[in-house]
Amino acid sequence: MRIIFFAGKGGVGKTSVAAATGIKTAEMGHKTIIMSLDIAHSLTDIFDLGRDLIDQNKGKPIKVKKNLWLQELDIQEEIQSNWGDIYKYISTLLHTTGMDEILAEELAILPGMEEVSLLLYINRYVRENAFDVIILDCAPTGESMRFISIPTTLEWYMKKLFRVERSIAKIIRPVAKRVYDIPLPGDDYFAAVEYLFERLRGVDKILIDPHVTTVRLVTNPEKIVLKETQRAFMYFCLYKMHIDGIIVNRILPDNIKDTYFKSWKKSQKQYIEKAKEYFNPIPIFLVPLLKEEVLGYERLKDLADQIYEGQNPLTRFFEGEPYRLIKNNNEYQIMIKLPFIEKKDIELNKSSDELIVRLGSFKRHLLLPRQVAATRSVKAKLTDNYLCIFFKGDERE
Ligand SMILES: Nc1ncnc2c1ncn2[C@@H]1O[C@H](COP(=O)(O)OP(=O)(O)OP(=O)(O)O)[C@@H](O)[C@H]1O
Ligand SMILES: [Mg+2]
Repeated sequence: MRIIFFAGKGGVGKTSVAAATGIKTAEMGHKTIIMSLDIAHSLTDIFDLGRDLIDQNKGKPIKVKKNLWLQELDIQEEIQSNWGDIYKYISTLLHTTGMDEILAEELAILPGMEEVSLLLYINRYVRENAFDVIILDCAPTGESMRFISIPTTLEWYMKKLFRVERSIAKIIRPVAKRVYDIPLPGDDYFAAVEYLFERLRGVDKILIDPHVTTVRLVTNPEKIVLKETQRAFMYFCLYKMHIDGIIVNRILPDNIKDTYFKSWKKSQKQYIEKAKEYFNPIPIFLVPLLKEEVLGYERLKDLADQIYEGQNPLTRFFEGEPYRLIKNNNEYQIMIKLPFIEKKDIELNKSSDELIVRLGSFKRHLLLPRQVAATRSVKAKLTDNYLCIFFKGDERE
């Protein structure tokens, strides 16, 4: 089983690159499913599939070719099958607090439900060994960060909150069925949460196992997009996911000589160099801007050839962790593997949300996750091939 995430800023080409990769692995004979949470259904759109087929299918996998399935989740269907009693309790709760019933039902779709539903599918497919390859067309960066943080959040909820909540409910319920007119959750609710958690068990391990799951960041050779890619990079590291490729998409091809594009070409070249510098040693895949929109099977196949140039897309293109981000109380520690280096050769600078590590003439910019960027004091130590940088939070924060 192999899982590949395609993540990045909105509009950079995630869906196209994910679909192209899926086509390639299916053609190689691997049973492949491409999954997405996109409510705009762009995955089925780029395969030019009819709307009827999608509507009838209600978020279940659609077979589009030999060895190839697409799945775009339908949150209403997921609520029916996964969230029954939990959803019922939350919507009753909102309704009894005076909210209109329809609005209560709408609001009871909690943020994160879609993501959890997707995790449930991933876990089920892995447990049942239903596919050889799962390709995930992620939502734009911010939302996919929420997605990957869910397993740890749920674990926290089960460990800390759930037990307490449940015992309180048990004690209070016989005395007052309603506290201030708010219905308490019943056993059905708790049983549903427990059942849900059981079905999610293990998915966190799958996501951080580099033999199974790797992340490819899709980006464009432009300043703002690259900046977001750096941030995404650090966040995926924070959640211990392994990035094995950076796909720089929509590069103007060399044969475009029109003077109108002259400065575009120049700046793209600069940002490609910057991308190599920022993400080294992770391999960079350079993908040209194609002549037309990437629509339909044949053009997607062409895109796959441009990305992988004959390499097997299932390869783990980078093994080993380039950075490790560890959190200890309110202290963060970044560990960067830097063999063959001496202390006198390293210079560190922190400027607002960026850490610049200078090694002689070589410079690496690390865009820091927000919590780390907010810290005040920075200390560094060099041990056993690793540069460890400690960020200590402000006590008042
Ligand atoms: N290399 C390319 N050459 C030409 N067109 C491309 C290329 N890559 C992507 N496109 C086009 O750019 C548009 C956006 O691509 P896509 O939908 O894959 O991006 P996305 O990152 O999934 O967007 P969103 O964040 O909205 O989901 C599409 O019209 C697609 O056909
Ligand atoms: Mg998309």
